[in-house]
Amino acid sequence: MGSRRADGRVVDARAKRAAKDKSGEIVVISNRLPFTSVKRDGKVRFSRSPGGLVAALEPALTQRGGVWIGWPGAEIEDAASAAEMVPQSDRSDKVRYRAVPLSRREVAQYYEAFSNRTLWPLFHYFLARTEIDSASWEVYERINERFARAALEESTDRDLVWVHDYQLIRVPRYLRRMAPRRRIGFFLHIPFPSYEVFRVLPWARHLMRGLLSCDLVGCQSQEHADHLLTCAEQVLGATVDRAQGLAYFEGRPTTVQAHPIGIDFDLFEGIAEKAAKPSVSEDRPVEILSVDRLDYTKGIPERLRAIEQFCERYPNYRGRTVFIQLCVPSRTAVQEYKNLKREVDEAVGRINGRFSDRGWAPIRYLYRSLSQDELVALYRSARVALITPLRDGMNLVAKEYVATQSEGNGVLILSEMAGAAEEMKEAVQVNPYDVDQVADAIRRALIMPEAERSSRMLGLRHRVRDGDVQNWVRNFVSSAEAAADRAAAEARDRRQRPVDSVRTSLHPWLEKRPTAVLFFDYDGTLTPIVSRPENAVLSATAKRLLSRAMRAPNIDVAIVSGRSLADVKDMVGIPGLTYVGNHGFEIEGPGIDFRHEALKRFQNAIEEASDDLKKVEFDGLWVERKGATVTVHLREVADGEQRAAQRRAAACLRKHKLRVTSGKGIVEGRPPIDWNKGYAVLHVLATRHGVDWTTRARALYVGDDVTDEDAFRSLRGMGKSIRVGPATHTEADLALPDPAAVIELLGWLASGAFEVDHV
Ligand code: UDP
Ligand code: G6P
Repeated sequence: MGSRRADGRVVDARAKRAAKDKSGEIVVISNRLPFTSVKRDGKVRFSRSPGGLVAALEPALTQRGGVWIGWPGAEIEDAASAAEMVPQSDRSDKVRYRAVPLSRREVAQYYEAFSNRTLWPLFHYFLARTEIDSASWEVYERINERFARAALEESTDRDLVWVHDYQLIRVPRYLRRMAPRRRIGFFLHIPFPSYEVFRVLPWARHLMRGLLSCDLVGCQSQEHADHLLTCAEQVLGATVDRAQGLAYFEGRPTTVQAHPIGIDFDLFEGIAEKAAKPSVSEDRPVEILSVDRLDYTKGIPERLRAIEQFCERYPNYRGRTVFIQLCVPSRTAVQEYKNLKREVDEAVGRINGRFSDRGWAPIRYLYRSLSQDELVALYRSARVALITPLRDGMNLVAKEYVATQSEGNGVLILSEMAGAAEEMKEAVQVNPYDVDQVADAIRRALIMPEAERSSRMLGLRHRVRDGDVQNWVRNFVSSAEAAADRAAAEARDRRQRPVDSVRTSLHPWLEKRPTAVLFFDYDGTLTPIVSRPENAVLSATAKRLLSRAMRAPNIDVAIVSGRSLADVKDMVGIPGLTYVGNHGFEIEGPGIDFRHEALKRFQNAIEEASDDLKKVEFDGLWVERKGATVTVHLREVADGEQRAAQRRAAACLRKHKLRVTSGKGIVEGRPPIDWNKGYAVLHVLATRHGVDWTTRARALYVGDDVTDEDAFRSLRGMGKSIRVGPATHTEADLALPDPAAVIELLGWLASGAFEVDHV
């Protein structure tokens, strides 16, 4: 497995690392690479990528060395052309780049839609702009898996894989599945919202699973870290230790900490010192500078209203001040950004039209990206920096401005909604929505005495220098390594096995009601999956424990299966249990004798389809008639033929108007009606424990296959569920690795360990 180096050679990443010293490398994964590539007339050109993520990471990684995996900003269909999109001339031998290809459609769905029309607005509290669309979520998933695979290929268990930002929240989940012992850190550059906002996302659970697959999750502030821990608790039922900043999920700990990002202070200070001193002259208007990507989170229209207010209220500053607004083009294919561009253009035109006078205009508006040197020149000559985002993870511009003010003359006006406000207490802080307050703050900055300006600036410079980006990288990396060591040590510790963590989270929940109703799927849950169903025999231990649970006064047990009712009863062989057969179409147990009324109507279709399936001939394929449903078994079909066999069987079932579902090595046909294991479970609960069963009973469902997901969904919010075996997509609350762990849990449940103490 290799990657193409900047000079075009393919290098074997592992071989190269083996030659290095023992300590691991850093493998950075972010949506953007530090450069954006454009191919024109057969030639690839590179430009610097916009935004704070790249600005912060680039100097840090260049110094430290490592691998950087990301998207080069162009639409590319395949890995070979992706490899051409990294720079030909090595900028630094210490960093290797690997480009991840994204097609036009993938860019539209994963980047523009899910990342920037769903996650970006929601995480910044712009609920009304948040789009909910499952098609884009699915592409987001696929692309996150692709990034995870690239990370897998470029790293070993000694390295630290460091995933960045909201575009890649699912990467850790995939990577953890592919390489359980990888050291994984994640840093979120944007805010993490409160639970009430996060829960709006239909995929909140999946995203949270992504985060809780990491060893360390870093946020911009402690407040964001606290929100994340609350969400872990509320959304996934993770066990949270706030004092230590830990969330336990699926038996492993994730450390959640604040790691506010910094800038390369020395670099900015250095450029500023080399640059010519800004000329101060009585005739030149005082400059007030704002620098932002053109993004609705930055509060640009609100700021322009404050500027208008200032011009109106303080006419004596006309001709003596100029507002410079630098907007860097961003996400220009996204409609919200196009609208904003129009809004800003119009507002600037209107304000300038209203107040301009004899060669002077209040606002100088630049819509482009500047080089670092040009930007520093702007910072240097600005008396005031006006930085008023409505919500921002950090805001590096505020810190960069401070780094360039070595004479201590400048004043920083900063939104209290920016992450940077937490550290930058000496700034003049404002509420960016409060137009009057911002207009007043501008005036206050302009009349601020020199002594006050320099004492504020001194404090700010001190803190920004202390928390520079080099420090940030050092702290993050050492915390991630410590977190990974902790997780590894706990994994070795028997007390933290998955079954123990499931027990720990179930115990307080079960204790709160006098009765527990336990539903177990059969194949793959109570017994391991085997190739012939008749060989899936229940172990003597499982049988003993099920009988014991059944006899306990506070436990009710039901077995739920895709097998026919007669078959599953026979396999379990315990009279008096509740049995749910044929995916819920047949139920039998104390006080229940149920056959779905639709079965008669579809009996002929099932039988005709079963006959017709004889024509689908593949070695190893066989058909099981189960009365209400029919199963085609494919597990013994040769690997190369499985897909074809599956397609043919499914087509045959569809021809008879049956609903087709697939499971582990099987395809099934069943009546095309809205009924499944989930409805059957609710039917059992209501019949045996009354329609208000939730007031008396706790329902727990344990299952391993896709058909069990229906039951997980039905119980959501009312009961709890456990998915057995590895699953990247599941609606279940908890996980257990295999049937052996299920039997162990059953042992604990049957022992009545959670019985309520009726004093
Ligand atoms: N920036 C730049 N050229 C420009 C304007 C801005 O390189 O013309 C950089 C700026 O130096 C800063 C980054 O863009 O490092 C913006 O980061 P910030 O955290 O302020 O906002 P973000 O864009 O990440 O939301
Ligand atoms: C913010 C995000 C980054 C992103 C940057 C630029 O800083 O946190 O992840 O890279 O904006 O946005 P873009 O969509 O152009 O990458």
